[in-house]
Amino acid sequence: MSDADINELAKHYAGLKARPPPAGTASAAEDAAGKRLADDCAGCHGDKGISSDPAWPNLAGQQREYLVTALKAYRDGNRKNEMMAGLAKGLTDADIAALAGYYSRLRGQ
Ligand code: HEC
Repeated sequence: MSDADINELAKHYAGLKARPPPAGTASAAEDAAGKRLADDCAGCHGDKGISSDPAWPNLAGQQREYLVTALKAYRDGNRKNEMMAGLAKGLTDADIAALAGYYSRLRGQ
């Protein structure tokens, strides 16, 4: 793909509206755990999962399964990013499930 193609695609997807979050699929305990763990993420991904810097992805309203897969990939070294590798390293599967549930239920931009 050319740089111009990439820019056009980025503009297209950035302009689409996010779906509303799914209603009530998690337990209150999982939600509380996800919110607590997300304190470590807010500096880059924002308080409500909307990033403060366009170079960092929004997480709010993203699909739960995708978030689980992405976090496990960073943790296990299958997706490489210096910032995320350090953060994901200590996460258990339960932490990842709680974080993914929490962010997937926040309203996207
Ligand atoms: C120091 C800044 C920083 C912090 C803190 C941070 N992230 Fe990230 N995160 C990034 C960057 C930058 C990327 C994009 C990396 C890439 O290109 O793969 C990213 C990517 C991600 C992605 C993949 C998103 C996608 O659309 O593919 C997920 C999921 C994610 N972060 C979750 C988290 C969680 C959960 C935490 C807290 C435990 C966290 N991040 C903390 C900077 C950060």
